Amino acid sequence: MKHLFPMLLIAACGAAQAETPRQVGDNYAAAQGGGFRATASRGADFFARKFNVSEKFPACVTCHTDNPAQPGRHAITGKDIKPLAPVANAERLTDPAKVEKWFKRNCKEVAGRECSAGEKADFIAFLSEAR
Ligand code: HEC
Repeated sequence: MKHLFPMLLIAACGAAQAETPRQVGDNYAAAQGGGFRATASRGADFFARKFNVSEKFPACVTCHTDNPAQPGRHAITGKDIKPLAPVANAERLTDPAKVEKWFKRNCKEVAGRECSAGEKADFIAFLSEAR
């Protein structure tokens, strides 16, 4: 019993942080403001766009492939990357801190700048609708 209590606490904290992809997307849309409405087709364009800022990663699809429901491969390390779409990977878009961390890193590498909250909301709408 002595060891059970801290474990329950950890489990409860973990559960409090988990969100649905919809909540994560809605938070970004709200952060963009002005009654922003996320659009999956804009997210799809963003995913496919060749920014050509980096020679190694011209686009998101360089590592994630052009189908977010398929596994990807890191363009440099060759490491497998699990699918980004929640339909193929239920863990995706449920941990706001993880989502934000990777948006920050990948947007800087690929687009040469941070993504706006609206771009993130569109991207999440696109991933959520991927089948
Ligand atoms: C250099 C390879 C690479 C490129 C290019 C890349 N990503 Fe990623 N991405 C990763 C890796 C590695 C992870 C983290 C590993 C994992 O979660 O499977 C990741 C994870 C993510 C996640 C986290 C999702 C979650 O809930 O777990 C998002 C969102 C994401 N990428 C979006 C993007 C977007 C948007 C672009 C284009 C601007 C992009 N990525 C381009 C390699 C890449």
